[in-house]
Amino acid sequence: MSDFEDRVRKALADPQNQGEMSDADSSGTVGSPDCGDMLRMWLKFTEKDGRKVIDRASFQSFGCQTAVAVASMATELLKGKTPEEAARLSADELTGELGPLPPMKIHCGQLVEGALKNALDGSAPPAGGAAPADTAATLAGDLQQPKGKVRIVPLDE
Ligand code: FES
Repeated sequence: MSDFEDRVRKALADPQNQGEMSDADSSGTVGSPDCGDMLRMWLKFTEKDGRKVIDRASFQSFGCQTAVAVASMATELLKGKTPEEAARLSADELTGELGPLPPMKIHCGQLVEGALKNALDGSAPPAGGAAPADTAATLAGDLQQPKGKVRIVPLDE
């Protein structure tokens, strides 16, 4: 087993921040045209020292184990970052302790990066300040909805 596979295996033994977030301020969903995998990320913001920062991030994935491991690392790394700092993080940086992804797995990291960027794009709260009604919807639930209910952004968009 390679060092990378070993680090993925360790991350999967105790994945962090997995599951929908019922009180999220924002969510982003992407699908990979390469493999058909999907990932959704939820973000919750807070105020710290007068700045808007990410309080919590969580994810749900119909993806490979690498995507789950990267999302687990990334959602930990995001805590305390401003939306601008988070938006500047590359897929490589989001892998954290997993280290660089092997060439065949680069799109797995990009899936996580895409979901994060998508969630940051939609982070402005709607008028009235309430979270969008479907922010906390599960990825599994959305997939059972009739077509057109959920906006899933292809990574290449
Ligand atoms: Fe599709 Fe990893 S193989 S996200």
